[in-house]
Amino acid sequence: MHHFIYKNGLLHAEDVPLPQIAKAVGTPFYCYSTATLTQQYTIFSNAIEGLNAEVCFAIKANSNLAVLSLLAKLGAGADVVSGGELRLALKAGVPSEKIVFSGVGKTEEELRLALDTGIGQINVESEPELRTLSAIAADAGKTALIALRINPDVDPGSHDKISTGRRTDKFGISWKLAPSLYRTARELPGIDPAGIAVHIGSQITSLGPFESAFLRVSDMVTKLRADGFNIRTLDLGGGLGVPYVHDDNAIVPTPKAYGDMVRRTVGHLGCKLAFEPGRIIAGNAGILVTRVIYVKDTEDQRFIIVDAGMNDLVRPAMYDANHDVLTVTEPRLKDVLQPVEIVGPVCETADRFTKESYLPPIKPGDLLAILTAGAYGAVMSSSYNTRPLVPEVMVRSEEFFAIRRRPHFEEMIALEGLPPWLK
Ligand code: LLP
Repeated sequence: MHHFIYKNGLLHAEDVPLPQIAKAVGTPFYCYSTATLTQQYTIFSNAIEGLNAEVCFAIKANSNLAVLSLLAKLGAGADVVSGGELRLALKAGVPSEKIVFSGVGKTEEELRLALDTGIGQINVESEPELRTLSAIAADAGKTALIALRINPDVDPGSHDKISTGRRTDKFGISWKLAPSLYRTARELPGIDPAGIAVHIGSQITSLGPFESAFLRVSDMVTKLRADGFNIRTLDLGGGLGVPYVHDDNAIVPTPKAYGDMVRRTVGHLGCKLAFEPGRIIAGNAGILVTRVIYVKDTEDQRFIIVDAGMNDLVRPAMYDANHDVLTVTEPRLKDVLQPVEIVGPVCETADRFTKESYLPPIKPGDLLAILTAGAYGAVMSSSYNTRPLVPEVMVRSEEFFAIRRRPHFEEMIALEGLPPWLK
C-alpha cells in the first residue's frame, strides 16, 4: 500500500495532484510520500518488535537529506557504506551509536572517520581490513567494536547483480574461514570482535535463503561462544523484496513473516540485533514523474518517448527491472488499453522503462508516473548525455517541497576546467 492514488481523475501524491508539482518544478522529478515512508518504517519496526533491535536504514537506497531526517526522527539508525554516507547520516541527525558501516573497500581515511565519530559498529569484510583497522584503532588508543561480515554461501534467488552471499561474490568472509579470523581478531590490539554480520543480497522474494543464512549465523554464535568469544550483536542485513508490478504482491514475504522467521532462527541467542533494510522502507514511497514528448509509431510497435531516461532511473537498463507505470490522468472505463514501449531520450537502446505495457491512449504532454522508484532511483542517477539530475520533491498531506532542486547548466559543468594549452 502506498499514497499515490487517483482522486478526482488525477493521480495524487497524498493530497497533492501531481500536475501541480510538475508545474512548480518541471519534469522529470522524483516524488516521495511522507506517509508511505512513515508507514513502511513503522511496519518493519513493528514486525521485529520485542527483539531488542535497531533498524539501520540502508542509506544507499535513498540518501536524500530530507528522507534521512524523516527516518531519523522516526527513530531509525543508518547502514552506511562510505565516508560520505556516514557524514550524511550524522547530518540528518542519526545518533552515531545507531550507525553501522558496511562495505568491502573502506579506506584508512573512512575507518579513521568511523572511529572518530564513535559509530556503533564496523562490519569488517576481510583480513587486510581487520589489520588496517586494528593499526588505526591502536594508534588512536581506541577500541573498535566490530562484526565480521560472513559470507554464508547462500544463493538469495535474486538477480545475479544484486546477490552478495554466494561464495563467489566479493562480499564477506567465507563462513568456513571466519572462526579462524575471529581468533586472529581476538589477538589484535584495538579490536573487540563483538558480533556477526550477514547480508546475502537484495530484492529477495522468499524467506528460505534468509533462513539458511541466519541458521548458519546462529550456529556460528554457539560455536564462537563455546570458544570463549563474547558475541553479543548480530547484524542481519537488509534484502527484503518489494512488489514492482501489481500482480507481484503474492510473491513477496511480509515483514511480519520475516520478523517471525528471525525470531525462530536467532531469537533465542540473546543478541542485540541490527537490520539494514533499504528497499522495503523507501521503494514504494517514491515515484518518478515524466512527461511524454512524442508518440512514435513504427511497423512493429508504438514507442512512448518520455523526458526521463536511463540516467534518471537505471534499474530497468541495469537489472532488467519492471516498474509499473500509471497515467497521471485516470483512465476512463471506456479507454482501450494499448501495448506500448516506454523509452527515454538517451542515446542507448537500453534506455527503455517497459518493453510492453498496456496503457490508455497517450498523447504528447501527458504525464506518466513510474512507480516504486523511491529506492535505488535518484541515488543511482547520473548526468549522462549531459542531462541535469532531476529534482526530488517530498509531499506531506497537501504540502510539497523540493528537497533537491534541478541544477542549472552552469552548475553542472562548474567542476570542469580547461588545461592552459586549450585556452
Ligand atoms: N546492507 C548491505 C550491506 C547492502 O549491501 C544492501 C544493499 C542493503 C543492506 C540494503 O538492501 P535492501 O534492503 O535495500 O535490499 N541497486 C540495486 C540494489 C543494490 C543493493 C545493494 N546493497 C537495485 O536497484 O536493485
